[in-house]
Amino acid sequence: MPQQITLVGIGMGNPDHLTAAAMRAIAEAKAILLPRKGAGKDDLAQLREALIDHCGSKAQILYFDYPLRDETRPYIERVNLWHDEIAARWQAAIVDAGVTGPVALLVWGDPALYDSTMRIASRLQPKPQLQVIPGLTAPQILTAAHQVPINRLNGQVTITTGRRLRDHGWPEGADSVAVMLDGDLSFRQLDLTGLHIWWGAFLGMPEQILIEGPAAQVAQDIAEARASARADHGWIMDTYLLKKMAQGA
Ligand SMILES: C[S@@+](CC[C@H](N)C(=O)[O-])C[C@H]1O[C@@H](n2cnc3c(N)ncnc32)[C@H](O)[C@@H]1O
Repeated sequence: MPQQITLVGIGMGNPDHLTAAAMRAIAEAKAILLPRKGAGKDDLAQLREALIDHCGSKAQILYFDYPLRDETRPYIERVNLWHDEIAARWQAAIVDAGVTGPVALLVWGDPALYDSTMRIASRLQPKPQLQVIPGLTAPQILTAAHQVPINRLNGQVTITTGRRLRDHGWPEGADSVAVMLDGDLSFRQLDLTGLHIWWGAFLGMPEQILIEGPAAQVAQDIAEARASARADHGWIMDTYLLKKMAQGA
């Protein structure tokens, strides 16, 4: 029988974000693979452990350490090697523990959005019997918190990264842009005329911060709120939505 692996989307670590399918998969897992705590990762590791308790799981916890990336290699090669090594560590943890039942992995947000867990799982040999349970994404929590539709009426939505916004500017043809993985608030490098922003940090968590307004007017407020929250917590995760406002939201 192939090893059963379930990738469980957990939203932003808030128990209210777990679907019934996610709760069932966590409760029924015989083992759960968890990245070990480390500098700056304790909060997220604790959130995952709290979710496991919340689901009444009796699963054996299989901790693994993330390998270091070889920064001397070109980006794609470096990431591919890193994924190979993570898959090897999962495999070793499962084999060492002699687990025969389903193994779950708790994936932040949704496993399909800016997450490589499915790519890593596809490297396991022999091929596992894979199940993917969708989770709430950061852009969904953001738009619900601000009560704003992600798309303009009949409009096109782009989801991109801070790096791409910085390197390539406003995505061609887009009138709504959701930005993730941005440590630099890269929207500040765009021409802000006519742009509206809905920004959120620690979305879905007790520390959630929301700021919204014409981008030129609120850019400084966002930068200050971000810097101060980051200093308080030691880390921050934020996401924002930008829209060209000529035709309304
Ligand atoms: C590696 S991606 C993971 C995305 C995740 N799979 C999802 O479905 O949202 C991490 C990025 O997601 C966003 N993010 C994750 N958690 C967040 C939170 N609680 N508040 C705001 N943004 C968050 C940030 O843009 C962060 O840089």
